[in-house]
Amino acid sequence: MTMHLATRMQSLRASDIREILRITQRPSVISFAGGLPAAETFPVEELKAIAGAMLEAEGAQALQYSTTEGHPPLREWIAGRMRRQGAAVSADEILVTSGSQQGLDLVVKAFLEPGDEVLCESPTYLGFIQAAQVFEPRFVEVATDDEGMRIEALEERLAGCRRPRLIYVVPDFQNPSGRRWSVPRRQGLLEVACRHGLPVLEDAPYAEVRFAGEALPSLKALDTHGQVIQLGTFSKIFCPGLRLAWIAAPEELLHRFVILKQATDLHTATFSQMLLVAYLARYDIDDAIERIREVYRRRRDAMIAALEREMPAGVRFTRPDGGLFVWVELPEGVDARALLARCLEREVAFVPGDCFFPSGGHQNTLRLNFSNMPEERIAEGERITEGVARMAGALRTLLAEAREGCKPVPAP
Ligand SMILES: Cc1ncc(COP(=O)(O)O)c(C=O)c1O
Repeated sequence: MTMHLATRMQSLRASDIREILRITQRPSVISFAGGLPAAETFPVEELKAIAGAMLEAEGAQALQYSTTEGHPPLREWIAGRMRRQGAAVSADEILVTSGSQQGLDLVVKAFLEPGDEVLCESPTYLGFIQAAQVFEPRFVEVATDDEGMRIEALEERLAGCRRPRLIYVVPDFQNPSGRRWSVPRRQGLLEVACRHGLPVLEDAPYAEVRFAGEALPSLKALDTHGQVIQLGTFSKIFCPGLRLAWIAAPEELLHRFVILKQATDLHTATFSQMLLVAYLARYDIDDAIERIREVYRRRRDAMIAALEREMPAGVRFTRPDGGLFVWVELPEGVDARALLARCLEREVAFVPGDCFFPSGGHQNTLRLNFSNMPEERIAEGERITEGVARMAGALRTLLAEAREGCKPVPAP
């Protein structure tokens, strides 16, 4: 029997990253490719200690269906935390989602029709490209620099749009670049969005995963016009496996997302939500976040030190003060996929940067993850130095071949 799939399926393909991750399953491979948090920081003992008591006291409720909007005490807790961070949000403006990936799905589903324009940073989060692609929009990439999206570039791109519907940004320690937007850029974006009546989708999974510097106000905190929809998540400050995240948006808009979520999965797992609420009542999550920051700061330091020591001249990389990733630009003309092919032979992996650009190009870029590697592997003499050294060796070979006029290795 031939099945007839929807036309939209023709343009969808499996993420490159998932393919690369399959190769990196072998324990001998040094992988900078994934984006997993450090499992050593997960609250395993704490959850073991409270899960039994929670089931004892509220077991039937924890295993029952619950409301689409989310477990009320969790919505209250999230809104309270957001208020302390400067955003005037009430519990009625919070929808608990199954990961912020679901938040992305619900928001693009609500806003995008085929041919509509969605503006995003260049590069942008791959999971957003995947979520939006289903609705067949036109991606409009806006140039970025170390301070974030360039506002004059945003104005220019908007002038060329016919049906702009949404601006998607990751202002804090972005995946994949590690960059954080300055406050003037945040204000500039809101001013432009307001003038054009455009909703801004602020995805903020890394805002609290900060190793240096002060917290900056979120777009949601700076927003005075109800223009910003913010996605938050417990994945990077607690653990990703419970799939707990949220959308913060004005109530009327939130209600639309609630209807869409109902159709998708009825509600986020009751058990996960109640377990988290029990954790938050008994432990100080800020202590846990501080421990996560400490671990990632050391790993970031180790990776930057290795890159500085090993990489040949002409290689540029970000020095992120938060998040999970370092963004690398190879000398012009060097193809990161060719480098990846050489690196896989040497059992080291990363993600080529071109998959973070909806319109392609930027073949000389790549993303390195530093969070998911125990330090003794990353630090001196061990796996990270070893991994970066192997990468640098492979790169030197490619550069030498290019100098000698040899054909570069074709990308696989
Ligand atoms: C920018 C960004 N948004 C959203 C997500 C999805 O996170 P989750 O669904 O675990 O909340 C990720 C995960 O890596 C991310 O990097």
